Amino acid sequence: MIAIESDQKMKEFGEKIGRTFRGGECIELVGDVGAGKTTLTKGIAKGLSIDEPIQSPTFTVNRMYEARDGLTLAHYDFYRLHDAGIMANELDEVANDPNTVTVIEWSGVVQDVLPADRLTFTITPTDEASRNVELIAGGNRSRIIKEQLV
Ligand SMILES: Nc1ncnc2c1ncn2[C@@H]1O[C@H](COP(=O)(O)OP(=O)(O)O)[C@@H](O)[C@H]1O
Ligand SMILES: [Mg+2]
Repeated sequence: MIAIESDQKMKEFGEKIGRTFRGGECIELVGDVGAGKTTLTKGIAKGLSIDEPIQSPTFTVNRMYEARDGLTLAHYDFYRLHDAGIMANELDEVANDPNTVTVIEWSGVVQDVLPADRLTFTITPTDEASRNVELIAGGNRSRIIKEQLV
């Protein structure tokens, strides 16, 4: 469990995570509306040297950003979607692409296609500006990333 005391610190935490990425990573973000999932994603984007502003993909389901070293950040948000439809197939492909870093908010509807080896962040507000972040690694690769972070 990691305590993050401001949105700026959440971005810095994300940046640290983003800097470790080499492509092929899958990050699942769990937490209620306003927990800080998109804020963390903004930090990850910074760590991937993305200058473009990260916008919540809530109404578009996904957005792609060009990142450093020929990588792509794929940011998904399945909020309020009951059936991912064709997006599930797309996610399956994207999350297994070695040159893509995949970040998913509201992943409930796509649990079946998420790679087992993913890093799951569960964000829980403890205060207006404080969050607890719990990390679970689903396989070896994500375990290595986790060890670099905690
Ligand atoms: N420690 C913190 N970490 C992340 N966000 C925080 C924190 N403290 C306050 N906030 C605020 O909470 C909100 C989180 O929004 P957002 O990242 O869009 O959440 P989500 O994507 O989980 O719905 C932002 O307004 C952010 O400024
Ligand atoms: Mg969000």
